[in-house]
Amino acid sequence: MTLAPVGNRPEVPDYLQDVYYWAYLNPRNVKLLDREIVVRTILWQQHIKLRNAAFAEIEPGQRVLQSACVYGSFSAKLAEHIGPEGTLDVYDVAEIQVNNTRRKLRAYPHATVHYGDVLEMDLEPFDTICCYFLLHELPDTYKREAVNLFLRKVVAGGKVVFVDYHKPRCWHPLKPITSLVFDTLEPFAKGLWRNEIKDFADNPEQFSWRKEPRFGDLFQKVVATRSMD
Ligand SMILES: C[S@@+](CC[C@H](N)C(=O)[O-])C[C@H]1O[C@@H](n2cnc3c(N)ncnc32)[C@H](O)[C@@H]1O
Repeated sequence: MTLAPVGNRPEVPDYLQDVYYWAYLNPRNVKLLDREIVVRTILWQQHIKLRNAAFAEIEPGQRVLQSACVYGSFSAKLAEHIGPEGTLDVYDVAEIQVNNTRRKLRAYPHATVHYGDVLEMDLEPFDTICCYFLLHELPDTYKREAVNLFLRKVVAGGKVVFVDYHKPRCWHPLKPITSLVFDTLEPFAKGLWRNEIKDFADNPEQFSWRKEPRFGDLFQKVVATRSMD
C-alpha cells in the first residue's frame, strides 16, 4: 500500500465533529465499531447485498475512488475486486479512520489512503467513484457539493455509484425506528427521504441515471454514467 503524503492537517468539518464524533472520532468507539458485524447489523443484514450491488458496477482493472472510509472489510474487498491491475484511492478527513484503513489495506499495494477532505480532493478523474453511505451523513449543502464534485471527477463513460438510505415504503416495519434514529442521531439523513440524489446535480442531463430501490426502499443504489464526449 502507498502512504500518501499527509501535508497540512485537514480541518474536521463541523457536521463530523458535532454530530458524528461518537461514531468516527472517539478512539474507544472506533475500536469497538470497526467490525464487519457492526456494519451488517446497522444495515439490517443488507450490507453484503448492497456492497455487492456497488461492486457490480466496477470492473477489475479500473481506477476507482472510494469517497470515505467504511467500517469492516469494505475497502479490502473492494481492493480485491479491482485487482492489482487497477487502483483504489480512499479518502478520509479523520486521521484515526485513515490510520485504521491503511492498516486494513496493508496487503494491497494498489490501494492508497489519502488523509484529507474528499470535497477538496485534487486527483485526476476516475473510471468509477463509489460513494457508500456517506451522503446521508452530510448536510444538504454538502450533499450537493459532493454529488457535483463526484460527477465532475469521472471520465467519459465513467460511473458514480451511490449506495445509501432512501425513504422506506409507508408500510415498512423498520420505518418508525429508522425515523427515530435519524431524528435523534443522524439529522441530515432525511435529506435523502426528501430529495432524489439526481436532484442535487447541477447538470443531470450530462449523465444517464439508474436508480434501484432496495429492501422495501429503505436503501437505494443510484448510478450516474457520464455520456461519452
Ligand atoms: C462513509 S461514512 C459512513 C460509512 C458507514 N456508515 C460505515 O459503516 O462505516 C463515514 C466516514 O466518512 C468520513 N467523512 C465524512 N465527511 C468526510 C469528508 N468531507 N471527506 C472525507 N471523509 C469524510 C468520516 O470520517 C467517516 O470515516
